[in-house]
Amino acid sequence: MLTGGPESVLLADSPDLDPAILRSGLPVLGICYGMQLVTRHFGGELHKLERAEYGPAVLRVDAGSSPLFAGVPERTRVWMSHGDSVTRLPRGFAALASTERCAVAAIGDERRRIYGVQFHPEVAHTEHGKAVLENFLRRVANVPPDWAMESFVDTATEEIRARLGDARAICALSGGVDSAVAATLVARAIGERLTCVFVDHGLLRKGEAQSVLAAFRDVLHLDVRTIDARARFVRALAGVEDPERKRIIIGHEFIAVFEEAARAIPDVRFLVQGTLYPDVIESKTPQSKAGHKIKSHHNVGGLPEKMDLELLEPLRSLFKDEVRELGRVLGLPEHVVRRQPFPGPGLAVRIIGDVTEERLAIVRDADAIVREEIDAAPLDPHPWQYFAVLTPVRSVGVMGDGRTYATLVAVRAITSDDGMTADWARLPAELLERISTRIVNEVAGVNRVAYDITSKPPATVEWE
Ligand code: XMP
Repeated sequence: MLTGGPESVLLADSPDLDPAILRSGLPVLGICYGMQLVTRHFGGELHKLERAEYGPAVLRVDAGSSPLFAGVPERTRVWMSHGDSVTRLPRGFAALASTERCAVAAIGDERRRIYGVQFHPEVAHTEHGKAVLENFLRRVANVPPDWAMESFVDTATEEIRARLGDARAICALSGGVDSAVAATLVARAIGERLTCVFVDHGLLRKGEAQSVLAAFRDVLHLDVRTIDARARFVRALAGVEDPERKRIIIGHEFIAVFEEAARAIPDVRFLVQGTLYPDVIESKTPQSKAGHKIKSHHNVGGLPEKMDLELLEPLRSLFKDEVRELGRVLGLPEHVVRRQPFPGPGLAVRIIGDVTEERLAIVRDADAIVREEIDAAPLDPHPWQYFAVLTPVRSVGVMGDGRTYATLVAVRAITSDDGMTADWARLPAELLERISTRIVNEVAGVNRVAYDITSKPPATVEWE
């Protein structure tokens, strides 16, 4: 949910939208679930679709005169993800658009300035999504376009100072851009009262722990303590195949290691986390729109209660691309800012089945080849995330004179803006060929490579 302030505007794709806001006279754009709330609240009706609609659809804009769709072509590609559909409009509302499977894909009451769209304008795969959002802000809500990342830094710094007073904070650096940006922002606000802890769980990519640490210490000048917990994590994961259990074990182990390290730092009251807006949505509990928890998004969930720490999440309202922009504004080096998103549980969720040293080495080597080749290719757009997945599948091959019975590695490369939706990257065949040849030749134990051509939804980005 994004709000522009108490007397301006509300954009919602959240089950937490308080219906009271719909009586407040504020302009509202309900997105997806938000549109359903608007429909119900104003007396319309919905019904459950027999088959939910996920993925791309063509939107037909019926009401070209609506300010919400100003400048949007009559037919445009949008991204859908819903299981309910409007069957009766609320009084005062008009239907503004449809798709083949969704007769009412947008509604509006121009007089009250209340709108709803069933598709997701905020994702990159909706062609004119930004125009719809901008129309709502500028033409419907009359919000002036005066927001800049610099003002976010100033406001966030003040808020952090006000909240922390002279208390101390700790931050678990994961190697990712989110925790690096969160830590830098907080260090800017409270300086040496922030201590960072880097737990090396051995689930990072090739060469990553070293390069990331160098950046934290030498470039960002953060106060970092490193814990080598590699053996401990492999031990804890031995024989575990279930993805949720892996995530939970890693989460618990992480907490245990971090807690030990944190005990050595006196007088800490706050825990800094790089939680982003998509994490907030995707980790919703049951009853919420996400309905079922998609994955236990781990970073250091559980720590604050256990350690009696207060949580500080200065990036909660931001998307990934905004965090990168914030990183740049804060002066982070480009290789840190542009680092690909990487899951907290690391390579463990890119190994389907048992996590062992041996299998970690295979996925690490295959992944390094995928990254090297894609990094070197002049691609436009450059994929947002790309990696190797080690499958438990073994298949027959022939190498030299001999028959092999070895492992299948999958390659995943996606385009995305925020990881909430994604499309598979149309990589050139020659590039895929190079990746495949190199993996099979250079990584022992692999004799076949497959390319994942599934979007999100319905698949997730990570395989586990
Ligand atoms: P999924 O697989 O949920 O991934 O479609 C969406 C984005 O989130 C990343 N991801 C995670 N990030 N902790 C994280 O910090 C996690 O547990 C986690 N699981 C997935 C994933 O790499 C993708 O960018």
